[in-house]
Amino acid sequence: MRLSARARALTPSPTMAIDAMSKQMVAEGIDVVNFSVGEPDFDTPESIKAAGIAAIQQGETKYTPAAGTLELRKAICEKLERDNGLQYRPEEIVVSNGGKQSLYNAYQVLLDPGEEVIIQAPYWVSYPEIVRLAGGVPVVVETDESTGFRLTADMIREKLTNRTRVINLNSPSNPTGAVLSRRELEEIAALAVEHDLMIVTDEIYEKLLYDGAEHVSIASLGEEVKRRTITVNGLSKAYAMTGWRMGYTASERIYAKAMADLQSQSTSGPSSISQAAAVAALRGSQESVEQMRQEFDRRRRHMLERLNRLPGFSVKVAPAGAFYLFPNVSALFGETIAGRKITSSDDLAEVILEQAHVAVVPGTGFGAPHHIRFSYATSMERIDEGLDRIARLLARG
Ligand SMILES: Cc1ncc(COP(=O)(O)O)c(C=O)c1O
Repeated sequence: MRLSARARALTPSPTMAIDAMSKQMVAEGIDVVNFSVGEPDFDTPESIKAAGIAAIQQGETKYTPAAGTLELRKAICEKLERDNGLQYRPEEIVVSNGGKQSLYNAYQVLLDPGEEVIIQAPYWVSYPEIVRLAGGVPVVVETDESTGFRLTADMIREKLTNRTRVINLNSPSNPTGAVLSRRELEEIAALAVEHDLMIVTDEIYEKLLYDGAEHVSIASLGEEVKRRTITVNGLSKAYAMTGWRMGYTASERIYAKAMADLQSQSTSGPSSISQAAAVAALRGSQESVEQMRQEFDRRRRHMLERLNRLPGFSVKVAPAGAFYLFPNVSALFGETIAGRKITSSDDLAEVILEQAHVAVVPGTGFGAPHHIRFSYATSMERIDEGLDRIARLLARG
């Protein structure tokens, strides 16, 4: 028995692994507070569900074009114009099974073996793996809380080689919540143009912004940068639609066609039912998005304040986007908790899960081994319950 080198090299998503472990504990009857998963706890808004049900009843249950229905691609063009100041035609849009598949497609059509992709650390766990699966080489730019986890053009410039092909961006960021400013994006755009690089920009958290932060799509900063950008977005986070699997790209036609062709030979188009629901989400009232954002903001402030009171936990910069807090926990390394010597964030996450029955994700998989990621996509009551448990665990020593 033998697996391919590609399969052997693959690291499964650590966020999914912790989630699976905590779900296993729940199945065994243990009450686990889950701060590990990256999905809104809200239900998909009723009007969106209704559109999905109507699609089933009206027989919209057949294959769609590989790039997605024309109607949805038009609705995405309207959204990009309205929210992001971006003009695209439907043939420049490809709809996929979540933003994750969109990213996968983008790197599959951009990279030749050995080509390098600049990725900021802390990064979302899947970027390096998706790049490697496409034969590319992730080149990591380290950032930390001392600079608010900000990525600058100068940091990128230092990592450029003659093999650099893509700059990967993620603003607002998972896991840090950092939001790049217009100025920072302009500098990165200028660098990309100067060095003839592509940009893949994952903007899936664009709707979840706090403290007056502004989301700017890098492709909106000029024709030159737009030509070399693949913008990735999706409905999972903004519309609480993780299970519907709806993501998309906007790019020049040459890349869109290649990604649609790739889909036509791998997954075909995404679910016809989800696509009908996505049209309703994008064209309908955006009120529920704002309601969810406000609730996330309330939880963010509360959790931030409580986390900073936990001994050994420190969040220096309040995240301005997404729904995560990413405390530095390295002050606890070397301590003993519940009889166990803590040497890494993996140890700490494990003790917290086993002893306090709270699921958090160690920073290792995000390229940030001194940190732990807490998602506040869970109710206020559960946030308090989980943090009470961790406080008790730490007090026990
Ligand atoms: C930064 C980032 N990008 C993309 C995704 C993919 O989301 P989906 O495939 O549900 O659209 C996630 C999900 O956690 C994410 O955090």
